[in-house]
Amino acid sequence: MENNIDRILYSEQTILSRLDSLGSQISNDYQGKDLTVIAIMNGSIMFMSDLLKRVNIPLQIDCWSISSYHGCKSTGTINFRQHEIVDVTNRHVLLLDDILDSGLTLHTIKNKIFNETQALSIKSCVLLSKKITRAENIEADYIGFKIDNEFVVGYGLDYNEHYRNLPYIGVLKN
Ligand code: IMP
Ligand code: MG
Repeated sequence: MENNIDRILYSEQTILSRLDSLGSQISNDYQGKDLTVIAIMNGSIMFMSDLLKRVNIPLQIDCWSISSYHGCKSTGTINFRQHEIVDVTNRHVLLLDDILDSGLTLHTIKNKIFNETQALSIKSCVLLSKKITRAENIEADYIGFKIDNEFVVGYGLDYNEHYRNLPYIGVLKN
């Protein structure tokens, strides 16, 4: 696995200390509010568990299984493997995703929640945000790290379902 990594971008320790501050920011912002966190699987599995341990207010969690990527390219369509939407009536929704790239995923999910639920607010939090011009004009409300336009794996992020279990985020060799 490690032989295919060109270089490490963020070590586990660097990620966790960034999550310390993201977690307290989210705890402050949603203090006294009914919060539902919707995590996009599989990419945000590590991010979700490490981040939410650092959010010290009551919240509900729902995981949505969604895919759009094949290899290093987005397929351009979002596949929902989700059966039904959790009831977020009169609740604040915070979406979690591993990485914001073209913006198609977050845009589609945000619209779906906006159109199909009575949520009080919908915000998003991504571990990584690529510094690119997006197909969809969307930015995340909370961002762990802004990165250049490179394909990264590890800490939940995959290349064709590989490398998700690496504890760090690294750039894949060509
Ligand atoms: P978007 O819909 O183009 O914003 O892409 C979001 C999804 O694409 C993410 O949730 C990831 O699953 C995947 N993705 C985008 N860039 C990368 C990358 O560099 N490495 C691994 N997965 C990526
Ligand atoms: Mg993926």
